[in-house]
Amino acid sequence: MRRVVRMALLCLGCGLCSLLYAFSQLALSLEQEAARWQEDAAFPVRRQLSGGGGGWKAVAGSAAGRREQAVVPPERCENVSISYWNSYWMLPSDVCGMNCFWEAARRYTSQKKRPAEKMHLAVVACGERLEETITMLQSAIIFSIKRLQFHIFAEDQLHSDFQRILDGLAYQEKFNYTLYPITFPTENAAEWKKLFKPCASQRLFLPMILKEVDSLLYVDTDILFLRPVDDIWSFLKKFNTTQIAAMAPEHEEPRIGWYNRFARHPYYGKTGINSGVMLMNMTRIRRKYFKNDMTTARLRWEEILMPLLKKYKLNITWGDQDLLNIMFFHNPESLFIFPCQWNYRPDHCIYGSNCQQAEKEGIFILHGNRGVYHDDKQPTFRAVYDAIRNYSFGDDLIHAFLLPLELELQKTQHTYCGRIYKVFIKQLTKSIRGIYDRTAKGS
Ligand SMILES: *[C@@H]1O[C@H](CO)[C@@H](O)[C@H](O)[C@H]1NC(C)=O
Ligand SMILES: *[C@@H]1O[C@H](CO)[C@@H](O)[C@H](O)[C@H]1NC(C)=O
Ligand SMILES: *[C@@H]1O[C@H](CO)[C@@H](O)[C@H](O)[C@H]1NC(C)=O
Ligand SMILES: *[C@@H]1O[C@H](CO)[C@@H](O)[C@H](O)[C@H]1NC(C)=O
Ligand SMILES: *[C@@H]1O[C@H](CO)[C@@H](O)[C@H](O)[C@H]1NC(C)=O
Ligand SMILES: *[C@@H]1O[C@H](CO)[C@@H](O)[C@H](O)[C@H]1NC(C)=O
Repeated sequence: MRRVVRMALLCLGCGLCSLLYAFSQLALSLEQEAARWQEDAAFPVRRQLSGGGGGWKAVAGSAAGRREQAVVPPERCENVSISYWNSYWMLPSDVCGMNCFWEAARRYTSQKKRPAEKMHLAVVACGERLEETITMLQSAIIFSIKRLQFHIFAEDQLHSDFQRILDGLAYQEKFNYTLYPITFPTENAAEWKKLFKPCASQRLFLPMILKEVDSLLYVDTDILFLRPVDDIWSFLKKFNTTQIAAMAPEHEEPRIGWYNRFARHPYYGKTGINSGVMLMNMTRIRRKYFKNDMTTARLRWEEILMPLLKKYKLNITWGDQDLLNIMFFHNPESLFIFPCQWNYRPDHCIYGSNCQQAEKEGIFILHGNRGVYHDDKQPTFRAVYDAIRNYSFGDDLIHAFLLPLELELQKTQHTYCGRIYKVFIKQLTKSIRGIYDRTAKGS
């Protein structure tokens, strides 16, 4: 008799197990189907976009239309977390499918894991740099994916203009900003202000001013992003344990390099580094003790700046960038070098093209130093600047931006930089394609 009972219990157990297995399989297949559905919805647009370079025009017109008909992607459960007071069988049937229980549970944990990481971007704007800075910020907003937090250091008289323009921009959900006055350590404030251009040395103090910020991308005002900020931001994760900052070389070609021919102070590597685009893990900068040529003791970032300025004051030409070169000369293991296409300057093309990576993959970040956005010496650089400045959010990126820009660039082919004008729109074209892809996916 006991044996029969035991057998019956065993059978019941097995039955229950297989029932559970069947349910989980069903849930899995529904999930996969949902994923496939999402891909299909995005597919038509993507296929058109990849249909050869000539297909741009056709695509532009249809992309907007597609967006309207795009089926609601199966993200019904995104906002629904299952708990005891709204268990899944009590939810309306159009909110959740069979797999909602699993889906919602998974989404809930993944949401909890990442509290929407923001990318921090800092810029220092003085004098006549308002329009240029706004154009730079605009390029960051157009192409970026994750949310941006701008830290804008500006002279007091510029604050109200910044506020008015930034509050009037579209896409408020993509960025947030804070305005700061220009500040220097009280001792020697005058000396710091004089260095190089007014306010340029402000950025050396960012690790101490923005104490709460872990990582930061600092850019000059004359920078234009031609691809999402997300992509340069992702270098932070590639730092090895000793690296604290990332920059591009000052020159690719030593024969026209400045530091190796003229500098009267130490500098990083063969040709020095350019500080116009500087990615920093400021947590690490604040923690590090730096080797130096002033004392045998290692010094912290905030301790090293003043002695460095005092020692090299008479020998430096490019201000804060020279000081950074001296620092990383003594601490080369702390620097991550990214290729020239992340900081592409007139030097890379005015004497002939010498940034090979850009020729292959296009320019990622354009740096119009020497004022080339505002005079007629390098019309290729100026055309890109004008196009981004002229662009209003919401306009069709292909018809109202890319195609007119290409026409302008073609007119510059009499210059060295204009000869390789395709390099200026190669990545831009890909970035715009990425935007259309993301819109089609409904994210
Ligand atoms: C989720 O909630 C947000 C606001 O909290 C809302 O804008 C969005 O439409 C909701 N998404 C879905 C799929 O219901
Ligand atoms: C925007 O920035 C301000 C100042 O840094 C901060 O107080 C505020 O919480 C931020 N807003 C959002 C939505 O992140
Ligand atoms: C910066 O460095 C700190 C300390 O090593 C690390 O905890 C943090 O995750 C780094 N930040 C990023 C964005 O990688
Ligand atoms: C500054 O430059 C002069 C002339 O080249 C040189 O003799 C001197 O050692 C330099 N000073 C420092 C601190 O390197
Ligand atoms: C990190 O990379 C730098 C530059 O390539 C190198 O000099 C340094 O030794 C590396 N650090 C470690 C711990 O591998
Ligand atoms: C930008 O707009 C100005 C007039 O506001 C126009 O003259 C110029 O051609 C435009 N540039 C581009 C590249 O669209």
